[in-house]
Amino acid sequence: MQAGDTLRYTKISLVHGSGAMPALGFGTLIPDPVATKQAIKTALEVGFRHFDCAERYRNEEAVGAAMQEVFKVGKVRRQDVFVTTKIWNTNHRPDRVKPAFEASRQRLRLDYIDCYLIHTPFAFQPGAEQDPRDEHGQIIYDSGVTLLDTWQALESLVDEGICKSIGLSDISLEKAQEIVGAARIKPAVVQVEAHPYLPQWELLDFCRRQGIVLLAFAALGHGMEPKLVEHPVITAIARRVNKTPAQVVLAWAIQRGTALLTTSTLPRYIQENFEVSTLPDDAVQEISDSVTTRVRFNPVVETGVPGFIPRAL
Ligand SMILES: NC(=O)c1ccc[n+]([C@@H]2O[C@H](COP(=O)([O-])OP(=O)(O)OC[C@H]3O[C@@H](n4cnc5c(N)ncnc54)[C@H](OP(=O)(O)O)[C@@H]3O)[C@@H](O)[C@H]2O)c1
Repeated sequence: MQAGDTLRYTKISLVHGSGAMPALGFGTLIPDPVATKQAIKTALEVGFRHFDCAERYRNEEAVGAAMQEVFKVGKVRRQDVFVTTKIWNTNHRPDRVKPAFEASRQRLRLDYIDCYLIHTPFAFQPGAEQDPRDEHGQIIYDSGVTLLDTWQALESLVDEGICKSIGLSDISLEKAQEIVGAARIKPAVVQVEAHPYLPQWELLDFCRRQGIVLLAFAALGHGMEPKLVEHPVITAIARRVNKTPAQVVLAWAIQRGTALLTTSTLPRYIQENFEVSTLPDDAVQEISDSVTTRVRFNPVVETGVPGFIPRAL
């Protein structure tokens, strides 16, 4: 690491909504609550100050418990941490939005949420079953609500001051444009899968012009094949700059102007992923130009069905 390098502390001020998002974020899609709690505590201790949660992950209690334990020690304060959570597809009806938000907020044991996202643009049949299916095993969608209806209910949460910003997730450029065009409070954040195999340049350009943070999930490609950390362009740069391939991929994400999410339950990976530092500009350019493999690992964007979840929930 270069002395004084501050890349890991990069914060992106929100143009829509208030606050600033640390670019380096830790994801909480970890099925086991004990492992979740331990990973969050480790992530806070090594320095992560941005956490991405969701009611769909069914572990907000464990995330909340871990944060409270760390806050109690006194070295990290609530206001130093940026917490995002997401409303699930079964709660898109406007009358379900505030109860879903409040339930997440209480499970997370927080008095406000920094950013509340619509997890996917697909509304499912309302109810307690997160994956409502018919007798043929097909997801039951809800045609009685539009994405804009849900968006307007999220705007009310910002008006009430219990949520500092709102945004979209798993969204196409076209749908994002639609909401941006109609919104009273514009999305502060758009969370989508993004990494060198799926750079999302067009969406990133739109987000930049609109003052929206593009938050890249699966920044390390979900750890799936073909492995990003084994791509020859990445490994050659890693050797050249004396960093690990994961650190190279994460630095690229920050230096091209996105925020990112990465996840691990292994303390050594959590530490490694926080210890990113600035890449030379030519290395950033080389990744953008020379990694030409194109893979979308997560099909949730097509149907709203979490057909791919990296570990069984
Ligand atoms: N909006 C959405 O629909 C959506 C969808 C998916 C995810 N997300 C969010 O994005 C977060 C991040 O996604 P993700 O979990 O796929 O992130 P990721 O960081 O791309 O992938 C995690 C995988 O990479 C491996 N890994 C982590 N650090 C590594 C390192 N330094 N070297 C080598 N391998 C490493 C992990 O291995 P180990 O398992 O061995 O630690 C794990 O298998 C999620 O937790 C969630 O918050 C959102």
